[in-house]
Amino acid sequence: MSTSSVSTDVLIIGCGAAGLSLALRLADGARVVALAKGPPYEGSTHYAQGGVSAVFDVGDSIESHVEDTLIAGAGLCHTDAVRFTVEHGPAVIRWLSEQGVPFTMEPSLEGSVDYHLHREGGHSHRRIVHAADATGRAIQTTLLDRARQHPNITLHDHYSVVDLIVGTKLGLTSNRCLGAYVLNRTSQRVEVIAARFVVLATGGASRVYLYSSNPDVSTGDGIAIAWRAGCRVVNMEFMQFHPTCLYHPQAKSFLISEAVRGEGGVLLLPDGSRFMQNFDPRQELAPRDIVARAIDHEMKRLGAECLYLDISHKPADFVRSHFPNIDAKCREYGFDMTKEPLPVVPAAHYTCGGVLTDLAGRSDLEGLYAIGEVAFTGLHGANRMASNSLLECLVFAAAANVDIRAQLPSVPAPPALPEWDESRVTDSDEEVVVAHNWQELRRFMWDYVGIVRTNKRLQRAKHRVELLLREIAEYYGNFRIDNNLIELRNLALVADLIICSALERKESRGLHYTLDYPTVNETSPPRDTILVPDHFAGKEWSPQWGKPV
Ligand code: FAD
Ligand code: SIN
Repeated sequence: MSTSSVSTDVLIIGCGAAGLSLALRLADGARVVALAKGPPYEGSTHYAQGGVSAVFDVGDSIESHVEDTLIAGAGLCHTDAVRFTVEHGPAVIRWLSEQGVPFTMEPSLEGSVDYHLHREGGHSHRRIVHAADATGRAIQTTLLDRARQHPNITLHDHYSVVDLIVGTKLGLTSNRCLGAYVLNRTSQRVEVIAARFVVLATGGASRVYLYSSNPDVSTGDGIAIAWRAGCRVVNMEFMQFHPTCLYHPQAKSFLISEAVRGEGGVLLLPDGSRFMQNFDPRQELAPRDIVARAIDHEMKRLGAECLYLDISHKPADFVRSHFPNIDAKCREYGFDMTKEPLPVVPAAHYTCGGVLTDLAGRSDLEGLYAIGEVAFTGLHGANRMASNSLLECLVFAAAANVDIRAQLPSVPAPPALPEWDESRVTDSDEEVVVAHNWQELRRFMWDYVGIVRTNKRLQRAKHRVELLLREIAEYYGNFRIDNNLIELRNLALVADLIICSALERKESRGLHYTLDYPTVNETSPPRDTILVPDHFAGKEWSPQWGKPV
């Protein structure tokens, strides 16, 4: 065994809202190394528009936020996780303000200054705290600046984690997580980082689909990494599609925030008529699964390439002041949202399932935590309500901070860890295989495992993903790794977990809609789809039903 390249107290994999807020909370009592696999700001957090949900309005209540979340989650939310998250909402928003996040404020009737609150789908009150329409950018840049200045935080960008190092794989009796193998993308060498605690904050997996609102880094790495290390993964069939991304060949599924509908935007068919009243009494402000499915249905019925989102009936000043960034982006693509409807289509947006954790962010592996979009906490159930995701990142970062701090004094420094073994691999001679497999995977996931599913489509996807997994395993075993291969290997595994979970659920619920079982199964209580890796069950994977214990 060689000496590890680096040893630290806490290794945080991911520099979005979850990873950075945990790093900042830990840093006065621990040494932290935080990694981003691309540019330091790049992750879904940076692109979040709408904001963070929390109870601040005088007419609002914790009970109401809990109730709305449970309704959107279609019977699968864990009430303890919902209550825990919602109750901590106001405190984490104030913490962000203390860090310097410039939220949009307004004068209150009493003469003080309060958070200005937007409204979004599923919320029965105004409760979205925001920084104009670029809330994520405000959070990401503020936290990143703070982290860069902290002497106890070491940030590395372009560092891509390959896999975790766990005790049992080294012949130790404990299966504690001891660190990770990390590809330094600049030197192209795999380094070892040893840590007393490791935290996955790697975001979601929506890039498994051809069309996605997410940045390129959202390839489900944390879910795949945790699964390979022996963690259970829950409810992967619930992939959320955002109803309204700008339809334009160059726009790369640019999001048009749900807050546009919250402020009066309406959805239109190509002939200019409204249609949401035919699908749900809440119309444009129904939960996202319902709106995305309605759009998908109308597009297929009419053979339309897109539908339209119109807020041009509101005064131009109102639109520009509420949505300055969306307005500017749309203008870049030749659309004036103050004067005309915007062409929109749905795109993959959010991963509701993930690595099973408890309310402190602890995973199945000792010493390993998962927070943010990578985690399954039980908050979102079968459908995440708008703006509950950043909230979850912040609340569970705070919870993990408390838990890790309490244990730090009793956890010894990790042992020296073995170096990455490259003795049996060579440089790839066929990079085209990786590029081709990327395209194929995303295309069949979009076509067969999208907004509307069937058994036949899922079986087709299963067949294809199994072929890809075999090809990728062979490639991975023979050639030197690079970031594309790491991502492809993870995406294919996550695709398999999504397909397996979708095949297991023989009903339609929330985001999982299948023509073969078009209704909710009312005959048995709602259950989670819990996939258990071989380390637990002695086989490749096995489904478990019920509430995780
Ligand atoms: P991310 O912010 O995605 O960060 C992931 C980090 O992990 C990155 O630093 C990445 O480099 C790193 N990483 C990944 N894999 C590896 C690896 N192998 N090695 C090293 N590092 C790795 N939610 C809301 O609540 N409100 C909103 O208004 C909202 N708007 C959204 C708008 C858009 C366009 C999108 C895409 C999402 C939006 N969401 C919103 C969802 C929300 O932004 C995300 O769920 C949330 O930001 C996830 O934060 P995170 O910290 O978990 O991960
Ligand atoms: C949006 O602004 O519509 C995105 C909100 C979210 O994903 O929570």
